[in-house]
Amino acid sequence: MQQFDYHNPTHIVFGQDRLAELDKLVPADAHVMVLYGGGSVQRNGTLEKVRQGLGQRRVTEFAGIEPNPRFDTLMKAVEMVRRDGVDFLLAVGGGSVMDGTKFVAAAAPYAGEETDLLKSGFTPIPISEALPLATVATLPATGSEMNMGAVVSHEGGKFPVMSPLLFPRFSFLDPTLTFTLPAHQVANGIVDAFVHVVEQYVTFPVGAQVQDRTAEGILRALIEVGPQTLANPTDYDARANLMWSATCALNGFIGAGVPHDWSTHMIGHELTALFGIDHAQTLAIVLPSLWRVRKGQKGAKLLQYAERVWEIREGSDEQRIEQAIERTQAFFESLGVKTRLSDYGVSAEQIDDVIRALTDHGMVALSETGDLTPVVSREILHAAL
Ligand code: NZQ
Ligand code: ZN
Repeated sequence: MQQFDYHNPTHIVFGQDRLAELDKLVPADAHVMVLYGGGSVQRNGTLEKVRQGLGQRRVTEFAGIEPNPRFDTLMKAVEMVRRDGVDFLLAVGGGSVMDGTKFVAAAAPYAGEETDLLKSGFTPIPISEALPLATVATLPATGSEMNMGAVVSHEGGKFPVMSPLLFPRFSFLDPTLTFTLPAHQVANGIVDAFVHVVEQYVTFPVGAQVQDRTAEGILRALIEVGPQTLANPTDYDARANLMWSATCALNGFIGAGVPHDWSTHMIGHELTALFGIDHAQTLAIVLPSLWRVRKGQKGAKLLQYAERVWEIREGSDEQRIEQAIERTQAFFESLGVKTRLSDYGVSAEQIDDVIRALTDHGMVALSETGDLTPVVSREILHAAL
């Protein structure tokens, strides 16, 4: 196992009908900004419950954080926070709203150029303070409700924004708030959580048994409860397990002391930025091809994944790896998430644009071993056509 530090300060408030407890978790004298997206939380009544939970506190609302939240939109919230003296941020929504809120928390007290905060990649951004933030998560997928990362879109790119100051103080995880999700967003969430796990698990072995067994447990839970949730959207137990799986997939626990890959995400981000393909759909496109191209580097963990997650025990190493990749791809397809570039209207000629964007954004030495160059990314994308 590799050396690690692990610290996760987010208080999780899990379960049905607990939003009244906002009253004891948000400071009584806070001026709260409630941030949300395109209106789903208004339509399904979640926003009203949040308002009630906040009681008599001074509340400002900021609506309209779009999927793949844009820097320009978030800067409007930053201006309101500064102008009105807001001192506590509450995100009510999916990953985009939670991420956008994290950016606002970092940018509002920041004295420099706010675009500086998009330039640090996976290293922490140069901030010494951030506004306190919390979330009411409505879409199980990103893990943003219990991690210190955000992804912000700006001028044709998607930029990670990381800081230990950006962990939510608390996050409400109420599975019933996810009942109104359209099926394709549920499916996206399952795929996103699944790929978060494998980006920290299908790398190379370091003898990290707790992390590996936990990763395998989350994958098996997703394989079981994902289809149950789609078949019966109000199945509370399935939703609860899906929600907690997605949180545990990216709250740092399974990633402590093990190598990380993230190349599927980095290539996927360019597909979203260039072609507007949903985050999880990009992952479903890239992952199977990436595994086929990289099975030399990932062979030992792919064999472990084949056996422990899919119970594949027959055939040569090569055959078991291929079967595991096929099962993964079939799982994504069974959820309704297509796995080929051509399914989304992207052609071979457009791969040049993706490679150019990866190069422009410095994504030239990806993966757990740093040897996934643009030449390899091109091979992966061609294999995904
Ligand atoms: O905007 P509203 O009207 O709220 O509708 C949203 C949105 O259209 C809707 N929705 C959310 N909760 C709902 C609901 N509709 C009905 N009922 C509910 N309960 O779902 C749509 C998609 O929402 P979005 O927040 O964009 O989805 P998701 O949670 O998948 O977040 C994607 C974003 O997270 C980033 C992605 O890059 C992308 O920008 N990621 C963040 C990560 C992190 N912070 O750690 C890691 C991830 O890998 C990912 O990159
Ligand atoms: Zn993701």
